[in-house]
Amino acid sequence: MNILVTYQSKTGFTKRYARWIGEELSCECKKLSAVDAAQIAGYELVIHGGWIMGGMINGLEKIKSFHPQKLIVFGVGFTDKKEVDMEKWRTENKLSDIPFFYYEGGMNPEKMGLMGKTMVRLVTKKKPEYVDYTKKDKIRELVDTVKAL
Ligand SMILES: Cc1cc2nc3c(=O)[nH]c(=O)nc-3n(C[C@H](O)[C@H](O)[C@H](O)COP(=O)(O)O)c2cc1C
Repeated sequence: MNILVTYQSKTGFTKRYARWIGEELSCECKKLSAVDAAQIAGYELVIHGGWIMGGMINGLEKIKSFHPQKLIVFGVGFTDKKEVDMEKWRTENKLSDIPFFYYEGGMNPEKMGLMGKTMVRLVTKKKPEYVDYTKKDKIRELVDTVKAL
């Protein structure tokens, strides 16, 4: 199967998951800004990962507008997976029947910018500090789902 992984990542955690998925599936992995609709048309499956901002998956609308033949989506945020309301995020992101996976990323204040840090401070009531929750084995279910297609 001809597969492409795309990602939109601000501080690098989503990019890391996208790269791992690309490695495991032996397929190409590109940032979303580097692809267009014509390129997307050449793939049987696109797996898009976007960092989550205010509950919304970055790049999702753009990748949908390219009308991939088949789409799988993963979102990356700092919320503990156990606390995520997947159905709420599915609805708010208008995912309907698109398969959706969630992974814990982390926080990197050095790359977040002043606006990002201010917003995180307002929402979490805490000073943003470096944390990294990424782990390669979190992609296992997605990878197995794709291999079973
Ligand atoms: C402005 C802002 C809003 C965010 N909103 C959320 C959110 O609603 N839910 C969540 O789980 N994480 C949220 N995050 C955390 C990021 O999604 C998290 O840091 C993620 O790992 C960033 O991925 P990246 O390194 O690929 O950019 C937010 C971060 C910023 C800066």
